[in-house]
Amino acid sequence: MKIELYYDSTKFDLEIVLVKSFKACTKETKKILKSYNFTPTEGSALLLLDLKKLYIGVNKLKGEDLKIALSNAIREVKKYKYKNIKVSLFQENKELNLKQVVEGLVLGEYSFQKYKSKIKKINLEIQIDYKNASKTTSELGKELLDVKTICNSVNMVRDIVNTTPEDYYPKTMAKSAKKIASKNALECKVYGEKYLKKTGMNAMLAVGRASRHESQLIHLTYKPENPKGKVVVVGKGLTYDAGGLSLKNSGGMVSMKCDKSGGSAVLGIMNAISDLNYEYEVHGIIGAVENMIGGDAYKPDDVLKARNGVTIEVRNTDAEGRLVLADCLCYAQDEIKDIDYIFDVATLTGACIVGLGEYTTGVMGHNDKLKKKIDKASKESGEFVGFLPYNRYLPAMIKSSIADITNSASSRSGGAITASLFLDNFINKENKKKWLHFDIAGAAYREKSWGYNSYGGTGAGVRLILEFIKGLK
Ligand code: BES
Ligand code: ZN
Ligand code: ZN
Repeated sequence: MKIELYYDSTKFDLEIVLVKSFKACTKETKKILKSYNFTPTEGSALLLLDLKKLYIGVNKLKGEDLKIALSNAIREVKKYKYKNIKVSLFQENKELNLKQVVEGLVLGEYSFQKYKSKIKKINLEIQIDYKNASKTTSELGKELLDVKTICNSVNMVRDIVNTTPEDYYPKTMAKSAKKIASKNALECKVYGEKYLKKTGMNAMLAVGRASRHESQLIHLTYKPENPKGKVVVVGKGLTYDAGGLSLKNSGGMVSMKCDKSGGSAVLGIMNAISDLNYEYEVHGIIGAVENMIGGDAYKPDDVLKARNGVTIEVRNTDAEGRLVLADCLCYAQDEIKDIDYIFDVATLTGACIVGLGEYTTGVMGHNDKLKKKIDKASKESGEFVGFLPYNRYLPAMIKSSIADITNSASSRSGGAITASLFLDNFINKENKKKWLHFDIAGAAYREKSWGYNSYGGTGAGVRLILEFIKGLK
């Protein structure tokens, strides 16, 4: 899809017209819309060919409502064979936010067709008419470039997440990282199992042992001139999670290609960051591993020693993400000094979905001020977050009788929080208040479309964390 700014565009096949109420319509239009029983509500659409207009109902001409309306519009457009589509920034006598309009169009248009034998290729050309806009052409031009960068990265992440585990395994993830690095002039380091062994990353190593695919530790770095500070984002990149010997049941295993969503989000952030010209140094670290069964599989009852020396009793091999993240967090803090913010992003627990529902990312950590900043980024980006609280009693749930801690809590209750408290054992003292854990188990993937997300991967985490970095002073 091509999107360009136009001043007073006149050559188009179809114009998208948003209708919030009949108030702003001319008498004539109102009469026509009413004659077709069109009601101006979210989800309603009316195509009037002779007028070259597609009327789309909208709740509010801003925020998520606006994005959803444009997403509905573009999905409607895709049913037909129009090519040149006009959208005016002025609708119902109100100037719309360009970023939200484009987000709705680009994210709403996405569909994953890699495995379809017949591909529907539609090359839409969108003309955003900015006649009478209050912003200058160059302001709008920059805004358009940035939002395209972010949304294209989100769609790239969706593609990665939706790709099958047969086609996308740890080395594929490393290949993606190298490609992103060379395209964006980033530093890229990739380590295999020899390095994991040498540096005592035994927890991560154990998880991938039964896989025919070698585990990969990936480290991408964006270094602007005179950076204002350092942000580190660590992602869980389980290219498949069969559960290991604590095997998932057949229903629970379906869709576990989505377990690479955290690592994929890191790829998305790193893919966008240099084009966005943000002023913070950003490190993206991914533990890319496949959790399988086999004669060499790690076992419940094993005790593993992580990179920082903490010993872990394995009681459930399906709680593998925290093992991978434990070593990756240690690696990050060993290798990167003077960190300002350290986040981890992971499809970590089913408990997070039970607690917050399918659409919301669970955020946990020790710093309430930092959580407030994330809350702001959530509202700006449109990604939902919910904050789950620690307390003094919960850490006892991951105590082990034979090792320092266990990877599976004594009860299922509060599972998202106890998983986060497990990770807390791998955060250095000086970084405790700089760290947040993002559980995207629900938000990252859904076998149903919602809003401007289509079936499958959503790209959760990318817009949220980029918005956070953008907002840093
Ligand atoms: N990858 C899963 C979590 C998950 C569940 C992600 C559903 C997306 C959708 C994770 O590795 C896992 O299996 N967690 C276990 C932990 C338990 C064994 C302590 C879970 O949530 O059941
Ligand atoms: Zn698991
Ligand atoms: Zn997992």
